[in-house]
Amino acid sequence: MKTNVNLQPYNSFGFSATAKYFVEINGLDDLRKLIDTPEFKKEKHLILSGGNNILFTNDIFDGIVILMNNKGVEVIHEDEEDAIVRAQAGEDWPKFVKQMVARGLYGVENLAHIPGKVGAAPVQNIGAYGMELKDSFLQCEAMDLTTGQTRIFTNEACRFGYRESIFKHELKGQYIITSVDFQLSKQSTLKLEYGNIKAYLAEHSIEQPTLQQLHDAICAIRDAKLPDVKQIGSAGSFFKNPVIEAAQFETLQKQYPSIPHYDEPENRVKVPAGWLIEQAGWKGWRNEHVGVYENQALVLVHYGGGKGLDIVELANKIQNSVNEKFGIQISPEVNFV
Ligand code: EPU
Repeated sequence: MKTNVNLQPYNSFGFSATAKYFVEINGLDDLRKLIDTPEFKKEKHLILSGGNNILFTNDIFDGIVILMNNKGVEVIHEDEEDAIVRAQAGEDWPKFVKQMVARGLYGVENLAHIPGKVGAAPVQNIGAYGMELKDSFLQCEAMDLTTGQTRIFTNEACRFGYRESIFKHELKGQYIITSVDFQLSKQSTLKLEYGNIKAYLAEHSIEQPTLQQLHDAICAIRDAKLPDVKQIGSAGSFFKNPVIEAAQFETLQKQYPSIPHYDEPENRVKVPAGWLIEQAGWKGWRNEHVGVYENQALVLVHYGGGKGLDIVELANKIQNSVNEKFGIQISPEVNFV
């Protein structure tokens, strides 16, 4: 276990924070050993995966940071139609998606190019371009951090929702996901309806894309809209898209006829937070250290030299201004530590 480690390289916002203790996990044995240490019994802990959805708001993390780095991808069952693939939690997510696409396995291609690691993907049920992790998630293995026992969580047991799962709520900090099994298909099941996929394909004269072409199109669409975290600090979408009552939406639509929206169950409507933030005048806003990304208002960025609290302050101002203009409360999808 290392002490006093700067977490700047381990969070995509690129904020500095010092971890009192820091431990890298390369397999289940490492985890079991950690659980038995006196430090683990005494200190609080933080599970860190790719650090792509986290905002450090303090200079110090007064506890143990556990970095998941266990690797391995294997096909554990295969027949003519399907394959079940097991990926260890520390595998790089975009690399995993690329591998599945190269093998001709369908089910995760629209989630291409999302930065992060496999083990974090179920925690917030990552989603993009009409697909969510839960659509191909079969089950995961997770270790109980008090007993060291592993347990299997089925899709249902994870209680997935929009950017939600049991691991973000009831079981937060209690279990650590060690591997994930995906149910993938060998049959073509491309999802092309969402957002600008169709426009991109038309522009590039691709009528019936292959799996690889769709994967590459999604990477290109993301590159055009979202900042490269190697160059500009960010955590992807900072806020969740709010879901409001249909009646409230209809009133808004009268005032703003072009408001984009997606119908949700139970007479509710999802409205893109990026649109609300842009209409409230924030897109491209910046000060010396932080700002609102110029190509996608849902993304808050750190240009360098700032602190997590600068982002908190900006996020509060944006929330207040969206609330004043539209009467909608938007909430962060990023985890504050
Ligand atoms: N929009 C604006 N202005 C903006 C941004 C968006 O008017 O600055 C409008 C767009 O024109 C479009 C609508 O809002 O009509 C939706 O925009 P987009 O398709 O870019 O998606 P999003 O709803 O802003 C969500 C996810 C993204 C995911 C994309 C694509 C959330 C919180 N975000 O964003 O996920 O990549 O859809 O499916 O659900 C992430 O979670 O980190 C993330 C990037």
